[in-house]
Amino acid sequence: MADITESPEWTALAEHQAAIAGRHLRELFAEDPGRADRMTVTAGDLFLDYSKHRATGETLALLAALAERAGLRARIDAMFGGEHINVSEDRAVLHTALRLPPGEALKVDGQDVAGDVHAVLDKMADFAGRVRSGEWTGFTGKRITTVVNIGIGGSDLGPAMAYEALHDFADAGVSCRFVSNIDPADILGKLAGLDPEQTLFVVSSKTFGTLETLTNAKVARRWLTERLGDDAVSRHFVAVSTNAERVAEFGIDTANMFGFWDWVGGRYSFDGAIGLSLMIAIGGEAFREMLAGFREVDEHFRSAPFEANMPVLMALLGVWYTDFFGAQTRAVLPYSQRLSRFPAYLQQLTMESNGKSVRADGAPVIAQTGAIFWGEPGTNGQHAFYQLLHQGTRLVPADFIGFAEPFEDREGMHDLLIANMLAQTSALAFGKTAEEIAADGTPAAVVPHKVMPGNRPSSTLLAPKLTPKTLGSLVALYEHIVFVEGTIWGIDSFDQWGVELGKVMAMDLAPALTSPEPPSEAPDPSTGALVRRYRELRGR
Ligand code: F6P
Repeated sequence: MADITESPEWTALAEHQAAIAGRHLRELFAEDPGRADRMTVTAGDLFLDYSKHRATGETLALLAALAERAGLRARIDAMFGGEHINVSEDRAVLHTALRLPPGEALKVDGQDVAGDVHAVLDKMADFAGRVRSGEWTGFTGKRITTVVNIGIGGSDLGPAMAYEALHDFADAGVSCRFVSNIDPADILGKLAGLDPEQTLFVVSSKTFGTLETLTNAKVARRWLTERLGDDAVSRHFVAVSTNAERVAEFGIDTANMFGFWDWVGGRYSFDGAIGLSLMIAIGGEAFREMLAGFREVDEHFRSAPFEANMPVLMALLGVWYTDFFGAQTRAVLPYSQRLSRFPAYLQQLTMESNGKSVRADGAPVIAQTGAIFWGEPGTNGQHAFYQLLHQGTRLVPADFIGFAEPFEDREGMHDLLIANMLAQTSALAFGKTAEEIAADGTPAAVVPHKVMPGNRPSSTLLAPKLTPKTLGSLVALYEHIVFVEGTIWGIDSFDQWGVELGKVMAMDLAPALTSPEPPSEAPDPSTGALVRRYRELRGR
């Protein structure tokens, strides 16, 4: 397989970058005032302004040609059609099937995927409805008021992010807490103040073999049985997993297990059974609205031409900065307190997917791959790290995300929030020159400190309101961005072998920390010395 960097399209982009790198966004806008209207695209309820990018029509045409060269169209069809595009695990990649509309058939590898997806959704909706109505009670007959989701990675970040995002739609008096870390402070803090008679644990783990989740689940089970006895477990524990055998081994009735399949990656799973805790909080109907939002962007992604395709455009601009401008990171800046966990969620989605240095065929990559995603909600970030975004030496492309309607407002706060967001995108793009600063009466010696270079690119995503539907669309957008970028780089975006070694080594090291025997072999001298130090500190 020829590397994408050897293609004429790559070379053309490199040459084009050399020509355009010295051009300021001020010039691009002055030459082409229509770009603000033209460089926009709509997908479902999402509106994207990408005019503040260091790109012209020519750039976009060259990037689209690169996508063609990478075979993007065929890859999209292969993913939606259930081909085994996760080559290192020989699996289909079908998270898009989790939001198939009722009535649409999909059979893959002999499995009735559509039928299975809807059967699980119906089972979830039935269970969520019974918890919400109070028909499903705890062991002593009291209704459930708190759901504790125990999971980590994709079995935590998705539902935790979405629960926070859709908090205002939690309408049945059931709240959720999320436990993930093996640090005992996490579960102990989350159990504090809970009434065991009114608490339901959802143990979420695709494999049901994850150390953190199983350990936390054991702690939770002990906490419950010490208070209510062993017989209470079946009313207070349900599971979400692909592994019925391990669920049963743990002692959870598999009648109360909600399944999914190996063709759903953990970081792509909260729109299926991993979203159970969310569904209990917001209800089956709102959950289905969220799926409709996912679906709208899926359909847009599948059918829109590349030049009017939101995920494709955002992905190609990502490649543009990562590979041709040497940008290392990408900031995600939601102007929505409710999206405070969105950057953390995106970190797993993007970095576990595209943090790869070999191609799908095993050859080393030549291009730079996945950017480092990070961010915080505005306006908080403005008072923290935006200084570097505006005047630092690094190029940090940013995605701004805002909503027109607040869920609730006070004293015009929401307008101020959005005014801040728009002001930031403008200041980043256009900056303020030395002449403009001097004209304000600034002393000459201070002028260089106040110069705002501008020419710092950003996307602005604007949606009417943060609802289940818009959240679904937003998540689908980033899922497809990840896919397009991975396709350009020729990598497998759906495995995560890089996280395995550390897990194995931790299990090998654990006995050395706890044993009363002198520490035996450590993996390396530095780690051995740290083990000894730790044992001393713990008096072992
Ligand atoms: O360690 C990484 C990972 O495998 C993620 O990909 C996954 O989302 C997470 O662990 C949790 O895995 P599980 O759902 O199997 O417990």
